[in-house]
Amino acid sequence: MDGAARSLLIDPTMLERRDVVDLVNGLVAPRPIAWVSSEDRSGVRNLAPFSFFNAFSTQPPTVAIGPGSRQGVNKDSLRNIRETGEFVVNIVSYELAVRANQTSAEFPPDVDEWDVAGVTSAPSDDVGPARVAEAPASLECRVHSIVDLGSDDTPTNSIVIATVTRFHVRDDILDGYRIRPEMLDAVARMGRNLWCTTRDRFDLARPSSAEPREVRESPPRSSVDGAIDRSVSQRQQA
Ligand SMILES: Cc1cc2nc3c(=O)[nH]c(=O)nc-3n(C[C@H](O)[C@H](O)[C@H](O)COP(=O)(O)O)c2cc1C
Repeated sequence: MDGAARSLLIDPTMLERRDVVDLVNGLVAPRPIAWVSSEDRSGVRNLAPFSFFNAFSTQPPTVAIGPGSRQGVNKDSLRNIRETGEFVVNIVSYELAVRANQTSAEFPPDVDEWDVAGVTSAPSDDVGPARVAEAPASLECRVHSIVDLGSDDTPTNSIVIATVTRFHVRDDILDGYRIRPEMLDAVARMGRNLWCTTRDRFDLARPSSAEPREVRESPPRSSVDGAIDRSVSQRQQA
């Protein structure tokens, strides 16, 4: 293609681990952040952020997180989730970003991350682990299945797939059952220590199959801007 920038072909198996981390986390971005509350069998609580997090189904409502291991030893959240099959995903608003980040430090097991972050616990309805009272929304989760991606002796991640059995949503965020993004004010993670807000948004109307096809082929920047402007102005007129 004329004028196209050259790209590099990269085989991740030839790279240092840290470089693959940079590629994945920089390219698959932004990633929402699950601030995961869990507890072990005896009720010792844990709180930690995970940006390998997303939703994968609405029927049933299903999310997944990707907690890792350190030298083959499961991170506390993963170990707890394996033990109890339950956890809570707390949504991280801009206001909570620093506190969520504080709970990512590698603390010894006797340190209570809830105290470190200075957040309050509120009881969950269906699962044992508490939710973060200050969070704009929390999702109570029951494990559907866990996929382990690596062998036991290398640091790797697992994918925990879970069904959301209860939603807690602060009422000023709700418009019926629609979420008001400006009130949720969620943050997300990019590569390295880069985070972002969800404050720069735009509407794009979903096309119908009856629409003309020509704009679908790599529209120049100006027609993307035009489509955005059009749909925003359509929404404002509605
Ligand atoms: C924003 C953010 C996102 C993170 N996402 C992940 C992740 O998806 N998977 C992971 O294993 N660790 C992730 N971490 C690191 C964990 O939070 C960190 O290892 C934490 O100590 C795990 O706590 P635990 O051992 O109590 O489970 C993330 C850290 C931050 C600050």
